[in-house]
Amino acid sequence: MVEKASQLPDSAESTTVVVIGAGPAGLTVATLLRRSGIDCVVLESRSRDHVAQRQRAGIVETRAVRMFDSWGLSDRVLGGVPYDGILEFRVDGRSRLVSDSDGSEGPAARLCPQQVLVQKLTGTYLEDVGDLRFEAADVSLHDLSGDRPTVRYRTADGTPRAITCDFVAGCDGDHGVSRTAVPEGELTAYAFDHGIGWLTVLADAPPPAHPLLAVSRQGFAAHFPRGPHSSRYYLQCPPDDDPGAWSEDRVWDALRTRLGDPGLVSGPITDREVFRLRSLVHEPMQYGRLFLVGDAAHIVSPMGGKGMNLALYDADVFARAVRAFGRGDDSALSAYSARCLRRVWNDQEFSHWLTRTLHDAGDAEPFLRNLARARLDRLFTSRAASEAFAEMMTGLDPTGDASQEVPGNLSGVGGD
Ligand code: APR
Repeated sequence: MVEKASQLPDSAESTTVVVIGAGPAGLTVATLLRRSGIDCVVLESRSRDHVAQRQRAGIVETRAVRMFDSWGLSDRVLGGVPYDGILEFRVDGRSRLVSDSDGSEGPAARLCPQQVLVQKLTGTYLEDVGDLRFEAADVSLHDLSGDRPTVRYRTADGTPRAITCDFVAGCDGDHGVSRTAVPEGELTAYAFDHGIGWLTVLADAPPPAHPLLAVSRQGFAAHFPRGPHSSRYYLQCPPDDDPGAWSEDRVWDALRTRLGDPGLVSGPITDREVFRLRSLVHEPMQYGRLFLVGDAAHIVSPMGGKGMNLALYDADVFARAVRAFGRGDDSALSAYSARCLRRVWNDQEFSHWLTRTLHDAGDAEPFLRNLARARLDRLFTSRAASEAFAEMMTGLDPTGDASQEVPGNLSGVGGD
């Protein structure tokens, strides 16, 4: 729906960028814009508590750590602990350690649970006197193809509000409103269902020494740290499995078998759910003055840990492009979609490769199983293969490096 400025209430506010959604993507966009002295307003439909507690990803890759570093932000926004770059593969109980460090100088990846990153980004943005509005209801986007789009919403007490802006950053995830505001036929969706389910379990149980990926004929399993005393586990299961069918005993028995660790220490399970592994890309990631960032544009299957890191990449590219626009250069904004999609497809390919390899090596039909095991063997024995793997895990592959440009004058922003 297109509405003209003359239809706006007198009270319409004005800003440079309206950011919709306060997940990792939206908060990073807003924080980087504030650091650049660019006005923005963040509208988030949920409460601050809800957003701060949402648990999902757990590793901020090396490239993303260096991105925050290049903005002078890594100490403020990254919690958790440094990651030693060692990943453990366990094949039929046999352990193989693979380094995913590329050996380069500079800060490396961090084991930083998503909720810690979100809490720290929220704190940093608010300390920088950022404008962040929680419980914004009925957000709607208007006049995206014009020079001054409008975003409407209702405050928690039901008051209607309108904000005009130069750009809208759609950071509201896969189920948000931003993408649905794009007229039919403007975007192409590429969707893929991997045909695989994962039972995901969160427990107050000791984390592993290294993030652990296990292959066995009983199916894939994984064990990741989520804090000093908590762990996230994954168990391959039918895509439509019922989480209620997984009693605590069944979960721990399956983990001990598939991880090849009869002594695995259990603990109270705090959350469990089943989800399908799927991948999705919307092209282009822009319509008029709307730019889609993070999950609003793409979903990547969790294998390889790229979902949150791609969102951080998009956010960095977008913030730098808006800053360049302020200096009279719109070329980076014009290139935003193509630049991000190049990395998106690169990471989709890596995630798909790793997903297939680790599931086929377990329970696929014999020919595919042997192919997958040959791939693993190559990863464990070939230096070139392990270097290529490290390049993808760190995110330091040359497929689009947004941090080449050094942030300019950061003065004039509160908190500096
Ligand atoms: N209005 C305002 N806010 C909304 C709306 C809406 N209509 N719909 C959704 N939101 C908010 C959500 O409440 C959420 O806080 O947008 C935010 C979207 O956050 P995420 O779903 O986490 O998406 P993104 O920030 O792109 O996250 C990137 O991190 O761990 C991963 O799975 C996560 O891959 C994702 C990634």
